[in-house]
Amino acid sequence: MATPILKIFSHQGCQSYLLGCRDTQEAALIDPKVGMEEMYHYFLQAFGLQLKAVVDTHTHADHLSASSRLATGDVALYMSTKTHVERERLSLAHGQAWRLGSLALEAHLVPGHTEDSLALVGEGMAFTGDSLLIGSLGRADFHGSKPEQLWESVQRELMPLPKDTLVFPGHSYQDILFSTIGAEQEQNPALAFADAKSYAASLNIVEGAGNTPAVDQMLALNQEANPQLPDVVTNAAACCASGGGMEKQEVAELTTEEAHQAYSAMADATHWVDVRDPQEWAQGHIPNTTLISLSELGFHLKQLRQADPLYLCCRSGVRSVTAAKTLQRLGIQATPYSVAGGILGWQAHGFPIEGGVLA
Ligand SMILES: [Fe+2]
Repeated sequence: MATPILKIFSHQGCQSYLLGCRDTQEAALIDPKVGMEEMYHYFLQAFGLQLKAVVDTHTHADHLSASSRLATGDVALYMSTKTHVERERLSLAHGQAWRLGSLALEAHLVPGHTEDSLALVGEGMAFTGDSLLIGSLGRADFHGSKPEQLWESVQRELMPLPKDTLVFPGHSYQDILFSTIGAEQEQNPALAFADAKSYAASLNIVEGAGNTPAVDQMLALNQEANPQLPDVVTNAAACCASGGGMEKQEVAELTTEEAHQAYSAMADATHWVDVRDPQEWAQGHIPNTTLISLSELGFHLKQLRQADPLYLCCRSGVRSVTAAKTLQRLGIQATPYSVAGGILGWQAHGFPIEGGVLA
């Protein structure tokens, strides 16, 4: 079956996802955030997708959910059976199937961060909300949070998944967009504790300490059926991770000239990956290169693992650094190189571009 369509949105540490079925063009937004609606609509249109569902993996406390704005008319909101909000929704029970066109996923209840936390699992993916994050677990210092239960839920429901299952969390703070179950098994310090009790003890937290006035205000708005929402919002909490951490990663970057030399000596197009979105590629790209958008890199890990050396480029050299960091953490064999200055720099040097000229 064709891989899904995926766009990852990363904003102030919060991650939301546009997931689409390539067969039916039906789409869902997972954990959409207020302030991002225009972006969601832009990509729905760019990919030719029709929004059918919104999923809130739990009642968010740190940022405003856009579900009240997006789940209208025929678009259904899905939350856990354990959710207590006034918002009209369909409930997902533990083990319940959730379909999006020909994509078949399943709800796994993963309480602990909140009582109503769920993960959507299937098609080689796990949308983990704030249960399993990259290199940590979600916060467990809100009223109703249970750190021991969180650790147990993640170990029971997510860790037994196949190692190459892609992990798409509700937050990421290190410029790494996604992970795999295997990478978290090996590298997530929160999961290295012998048991839930020792994990919880290491956090040294007091239940409810995370409920600042800003958090309580967001929580209240996220529970209302039709809240009055501002258009511009900042998060109520700076970080939603706990019990882990990662070292900062360095990325190998090539100047435009170095990249051009490497390109000239390149054996075939699989070694050069343009990580922009398809609509950007269509406006102009370097000849004899491969398009795999940053959001969809995870669907091509096998191919990427075989490309050594691997050159990553984007428009200006920012997304290619994120791509390199993400792939490095997933254990890509060789060093992935980011092309500094991106295709704009390439074009400015007069190196070949086909399909158009970048503005
Ligand atoms: Fe959360």
